[in-house]
Amino acid sequence: MSAAAVAAGRTNTPTLRAALEFAQSRLAAALPSAFDSRAEQYREALALLRFAAGLSEAQILANGAGTLEAGAWAQYRDIVERRAAGEPFAYIECRRGFHALDLHVDPSVLIPRPETEIIVDTVLARSPENAFSVIDLGTGSGAVALGIAHARPEARVTAVDISAAALAVARGNAAALGATIEFVESDWFAAPALRQYDFICCNPPYVRSDDPHLHDLRFEPRLALDGGRDGLREIRRVLAAAPGHLNAGGSVVIEHGYDQADAVVRIAEAARLQHLETIRDLGGRERVSVFCIRETG
Ligand SMILES: C[S@@+](CC[C@H](N)C(=O)[O-])C[C@H]1O[C@@H](n2cnc3c(N)ncnc32)[C@H](O)[C@@H]1O
Repeated sequence: MSAAAVAAGRTNTPTLRAALEFAQSRLAAALPSAFDSRAEQYREALALLRFAAGLSEAQILANGAGTLEAGAWAQYRDIVERRAAGEPFAYIECRRGFHALDLHVDPSVLIPRPETEIIVDTVLARSPENAFSVIDLGTGSGAVALGIAHARPEARVTAVDISAAALAVARGNAAALGATIEFVESDWFAAPALRQYDFICCNPPYVRSDDPHLHDLRFEPRLALDGGRDGLREIRRVLAAAPGHLNAGGSVVIEHGYDQADAVVRIAEAARLQHLETIRDLGGRERVSVFCIRETG
């Protein structure tokens, strides 16, 4: 049974192998730059089939000549088309791993990225042995807040977002993980309930409004990505307000674009903050900067 016959609908229930071949050629044709090698196409087709058929990779590989059940085949065609249209796999399976946690995600939240784990690791490395307080500004799925709360259950964690839909996802993730987090709907620090913290964490929107990459990210909320004309609009707002919400000895841990570190340090220094370090991601790019209150003397 050929991939073309499968694609043309001349079969109702293809073999697992034929279904995989159909998906590989569909992805290669629709997204040639994302899936530019046979290996990439195969990996993605296999991941989608595991999800649609509820089978392990070993079961699929051991049973390539077996027939795919009709319901699973219908679902597979549907999700292959969604993927071919550019929708991220995380939104298809509604899950993303972050800092050893399994998080529910949907299109109302940014899909958490590996580089954002640097924020969690930085807070954990700098935190005292006893309890401390932390606020996660722009929590989205709750990734940063939950990463910290899971590793340090005694920490007092507050998570803020301006999006009620994002907060609903974060609340659901906290409930699923049994984490106790205070959630506040707020435009950064605007809500009167927000006070002073030992750590202020933030992964703000920092993509320039005219950045062509926004097209590739079109399935994710614009509110989570668009940082205005120079990408720094929300970083300026957060850093300007941060000193008023930082306890003595506390730190601001903020993510930014790989080419924004110098600008972020200048903005922070103009806001009475002192630069402590900038941390690089695994690709060697500067992604997270850390600040404390500048002592005046
Ligand atoms: C880049 S996403 C980060 C999401 C999550 N912290 C993560 O790292 O996966 C930015 C988040 O900030 C939120 N946000 C944007 N503008 C905001 C504002 N003015 N006040 C509070 N949250 C805001 C968005 O809704 C979004 O959830």
